[in-house]
Amino acid sequence: MGNKVGIVGIGMTKFGEHWNKGLRELIVEAGLKAVHDANLTGEEIQAIYGGCMAPGLFVGQEHISALIADHVGLGGIPSTRVEAACASGGLALRQAYLAVRSGRLNVVVAGGVEKMTDVPTNLATVALMGAGDEEWEGFYGATFPGLYALMARRHMYEFGTTREQLAMVAVKNHHNGAMNPSAQFQYEITVDKVLKSAPVADPLTLLDCSPITDGAASVILASEEKAKKIAKETGKEIIWIASSGQASDTLALHDRDSLCKTKAAVLAGKEAYQQAGIKPGDIGFAEVHDCFTIAEIMAIEGLGFCNFGEGGKITENGETAVNGRIPVNTSGGLKAKGHPIGATGIAQAIEATLQLRGEAGGRQVKNPKYGLTHNVGGSGATCVVHIFTNEY
Ligand code: COA
Repeated sequence: MGNKVGIVGIGMTKFGEHWNKGLRELIVEAGLKAVHDANLTGEEIQAIYGGCMAPGLFVGQEHISALIADHVGLGGIPSTRVEAACASGGLALRQAYLAVRSGRLNVVVAGGVEKMTDVPTNLATVALMGAGDEEWEGFYGATFPGLYALMARRHMYEFGTTREQLAMVAVKNHHNGAMNPSAQFQYEITVDKVLKSAPVADPLTLLDCSPITDGAASVILASEEKAKKIAKETGKEIIWIASSGQASDTLALHDRDSLCKTKAAVLAGKEAYQQAGIKPGDIGFAEVHDCFTIAEIMAIEGLGFCNFGEGGKITENGETAVNGRIPVNTSGGLKAKGHPIGATGIAQAIEATLQLRGEAGGRQVKNPKYGLTHNVGGSGATCVVHIFTNEY
């Protein structure tokens, strides 16, 4: 079984456009907040795993593993950059979790960052498309909104998912984001507004898309013994990582058996449920990778919260609302909280921690026991699923 692994500290910057902060300021702010949350001096931290997708293309900086350690004042310890496109943060969390679970390390930071707004949208679009298949997709002009638009069209064709149901994902997530002080967009929208917003890649409009965002997030993981010691001092509840699953799918969309079934999510979810010894029905809330509205619908189907083809329907029925059967993206999701690529998977873990600690304010779910995070790279080629609990 290995060691139990607990989250003992969390910290994130507000997500949004940070014109007065660079990559390093964002990292330091999130890192220090997490260290303060865990009431640590920093000396006890043994390693850093940092998720970041494309700092070279966004800000001209590579080798950010060393930059992170240097600027948070932990220059001597091992620091590793983890890259899996939009799943970089989730994968950094998994690497940190495995390091502690193996018994090799006791206190580890998992972080994530992306500074995206220093380049114009066309260059950001090219950088992001690096997560797809450059030879067979990017070279021919495909973009991420374009790839997800193909999935949306196919889902509508196969299952009768409606344009309005897609929009309802965005409406719900903006509603939740309006209650999250860390979110990029803290305002409500309507279905009509989504339908009438600027077309991006038919059928997706501006308000179906996650935005381009700057931000950083960090969590501190500790072994059972260490976590209990830290929690005694902070008085904060330890949130345990009950399981971690990861799986892959084809890089290019055209190589898949189905355009609207996410194989990696299904496999990573199965592994995570099995390790935690629970079923989808035991999950109290989920943070899923809604980079586009269709992505949330396919995620909740792949994770077993409903049958394939019913994601739009359960969204329309209100089952994924904060007070619904399976609350999804209480943080506002990528859509409203924002999507600073490398930080997203860690921010999902932070929302899970806040919910399980009972510190999620107006968007608090009633007495959750298990929370799930689902972080996707590219159009679904990498998926990392974690399950968190306050019940060990
Ligand atoms: N949702 C809501 N509002 C958005 C938005 C979004 N996704 N993106 C931009 N806006 C708003 C801006 O805040 C701005 O509002 P303002 O005029 O009131 O200040 C306005 O729309 C124009 O913003 P701008 O930055 O000029 O938009 P853009 O046209 O350059 O970019 C997208 C819009 C949708 C193309 C861009 O956000 C995008 O590419 N998103 C997808 C990112 C992505 O692919 N991520 C990886 C997923 S796998």
